[in-house]
Amino acid sequence: MQTSSNKKQLVIGNWKMNGSSAENASLLLSLLPVISRFESVEVALCPPYPYLTTVADLLDDSDVALGAQNLSAQLSGAHTGEVSASMLHDIGCRFVLVGHSERRALYAEDDDLVAKKFATALRAGLIPVLCVGETLAQRQSGETEVVVTNQLNAVLKAVGIQDLVKGVIAYEPVWAIGTGETATPEQAQAVHRHIRQYLADQDRAAAADCRILYGGSVKADNAEQLFNQPDIDGGLIGGASLDAMSFAAICWAAQTGPITDSIAI
Ligand code: PGA
Repeated sequence: MQTSSNKKQLVIGNWKMNGSSAENASLLLSLLPVISRFESVEVALCPPYPYLTTVADLLDDSDVALGAQNLSAQLSGAHTGEVSASMLHDIGCRFVLVGHSERRALYAEDDDLVAKKFATALRAGLIPVLCVGETLAQRQSGETEVVVTNQLNAVLKAVGIQDLVKGVIAYEPVWAIGTGETATPEQAQAVHRHIRQYLADQDRAAAADCRILYGGSVKADNAEQLFNQPDIDGGLIGGASLDAMSFAAICWAAQTGPITDSIAI
């Protein structure tokens, strides 16, 4: 049996290290009038650090939330080049990505650091978006569920189930990120269901309320099928979030998706 809840689907655009003042302004000029008409989807954008405050100003009259792509695990002080959770909160961020696979792979962020960042973000009043996902080799050797479970466990151990579900989870198979190779809706749903069931084993109501996003080459033409899966509650969008019409189409697909999940009751 499926359960339903009041949560809205959530679509987050991750601009990564792209954009300029002029490009961001032009993207938002095209995007905001279109998505302002979509009422049943929550949208957030994560620009690079230097553009957060100008993008915050441009988003001011809209319902689109601001997010950051990373944060420091440290609270303040002598950490040259780092940005703290309280600074992000101070300038109006609502979300922050934590443990994106590019940070795990290219900047040596391990599960412990990711868990620390998650806890730090929550404490500052931000909503951490915990990214989890397996590499191609791990999928091919049948380790997908173990990898994802271990990544969840690191955060569960640090903050517990009640705080974990104050955040958002993004399942992003590493082999699908920026490659044009999307997980099929069935592949994605299987992992989302595993995540939901794993959380439900600890707290059924919390699991039902938790939003689990899919990320990895989501495009205008595959978003609807993905978002129609019962345990997919929206998307984390990289490349396609840099194009106003593609991103708007993805937001539209999310607003028409179901808000149910597959936990048996
Ligand atoms: P992609 O990136 O949509 O370009 O695959 C997703 C992500 O890295 O969050």
